Amino acid sequence: AQALRVALAGLGTVGGGVIRVLDENRELITRRAGRPIEVVAVSARDRAKNRGVDLSRFAWVDDTASLAEAEADVVVELIGGSDGPALALARRTLAAGKGFVTANKAMLAHHGLELARAAEAAGQPLKFEAAVAGGIPVIKGLREGAAANAIARVYGILNGTCNFIVSKMEAEGRDFAEVLAEAQALGFAEADPSFDIDGVDAAHKLSILASLAFGTAPAFGDVAISGIRHLLAADIAEAAALGYRVRLVGVAEADAHGLFQRVHAHLVPNDHPLAHVTGATNAVVAEGNFVGRLLFQGAGAGEGPTASAVVADLIDIARGEFGPPYAMPADALATSGAADSGER
Ligand code: NDP
Ligand code: HSE
Repeated sequence: AQALRVALAGLGTVGGGVIRVLDENRELITRRAGRPIEVVAVSARDRAKNRGVDLSRFAWVDDTASLAEAEADVVVELIGGSDGPALALARRTLAAGKGFVTANKAMLAHHGLELARAAEAAGQPLKFEAAVAGGIPVIKGLREGAAANAIARVYGILNGTCNFIVSKMEAEGRDFAEVLAEAQALGFAEADPSFDIDGVDAAHKLSILASLAFGTAPAFGDVAISGIRHLLAADIAEAAALGYRVRLVGVAEADAHGLFQRVHAHLVPNDHPLAHVTGATNAVVAEGNFVGRLLFQGAGAGEGPTASAVVADLIDIARGEFGPPYAMPADALATSGAADSGER
């Protein structure tokens, strides 16, 4: 069968991981996808950088946004940033009638509706499993697995860097800045780590989850946000003495007055599953009216888990399995905070 040809923008933690996953699991992936998935062209900032993978087999494209016009069926964007080259590439790719896969939650939180409309107009996939909770198939879980349910609430630990920091501070009594540096070295943190520690990254992800759960357009501006920048080891010790753990949690819930989205440090009781989520792990809980309470848990950041989610999207595309990006046609999504049911 004809290979699915992929143009890959961004060769950092996640982009390098995608090449490694496709190389190492080539046979398995080909069997599951029903045809080979081949990277044909790549682009990043610095062509000379050693990335630990052989790039000589791919065409190199200097102007990253022009990957949209490469001889490929799908473009994978792993650059990051809500605007700039990532958004230019997304717009050009969909306008060129090709599929688009991204891990870029910042771009989706700000431009998700526009991109979903463009994908639907082109009859092409826009897929973003890696954008929320790294390797955990939570987009698929909400978009497909829970599709028959009205969701009352979706909440969880959505930022691996913050969870790594709070759980290390908790277990080892270590200093905030020192643990942040460790998370950065492990490749979990955003290019600008204030996005992690100020709750912005979790809010980007929450707005995407809310969209899938409540049938609303992603609306980052509707999320109330605070982070963990000022958290002290003493705060964590005091919470522990009272039977709680501190976790940065994002919550989206709908009631008769609308949809409410917020990200902030919560005191989680020791007997709640979220209290036992440590390290760069993420966990998402969704409450559906027929399925009940679903818990998705796993690696929320890092090369292997995130690349695994990107490649899962490519396998779906290779099989021809995709529908509207946000579980319903973009024009059916409610805007400005109105959820799809006011009854809950
Ligand atoms: P990195 O910083 O490791 O890699 C970014 C890549 O993009 C680099 O190859 C860089 O090029 C390239 N790049 C940056 N700016 C430009 C530009 N202006 N033009 C062309 N190329 C550019 O980031 P990550 O791999 O960690 O993250 C990529 C995306 O995945 C982001 O959207 C991030 O939010 C998301 N994500 C990351 C996760 C993680 O655990 N790391 C988890 C889930 C999502 P060069 O190498 O030449 O400098
Ligand atoms: N910086 C993000 C995190 C990467 O720490 O969760 C995964 O989206």
